[in-house]
Amino acid sequence: MTNEELIKTAFAARKYAYAPYSHFKVGAALLTKSNRVYTGCNIENASFPAGLCAEKVAISKAISEGDKEFLKIAIVGGNEDIEEPKDYCTPCGICRQTMVEFCDKNFEIILFDNGIPKIFSLDQLLPHSFNKNDLKK
Ligand code: THU
Repeated sequence: MTNEELIKTAFAARKYAYAPYSHFKVGAALLTKSNRVYTGCNIENASFPAGLCAEKVAISKAISEGDKEFLKIAIVGGNEDIEEPKDYCTPCGICRQTMVEFCDKNFEIILFDNGIPKIFSLDQLLPHSFNKNDLKK
């Protein structure tokens, strides 16, 4: 699956976003090494901290189905008034930390930059992360 196709799938998932409080809708599409795609959208809640980010939904869906090896994720987001937001929607800190737990160095995070897919590594987005190796020290 190309990065453009993965972005397109993320846009399709964004349509299901439930964001009545922030009005900011996010979609994510996660490609696994098994060649499956897991989608996610943000799901807000009247009790704000109970809300879920799109990336976390996609990753949770994959893990809960036993699919744990990830290749890349596409993330798109923006105000609900914009049908296809074309600028960066970077993953929040908690989602970056979630990715560190399950993704290796080669994992690619694909963000839309002015309509062009741009690839980032986890090391770029969360350098010097605290991760499972630290617990072994
Ligand atoms: N959001 C995500 O779904 N992913 C991100 O990485 C950034 C933020 C959601 C959470 C909340 O529902 C809305 O965007 C505004 O913060």
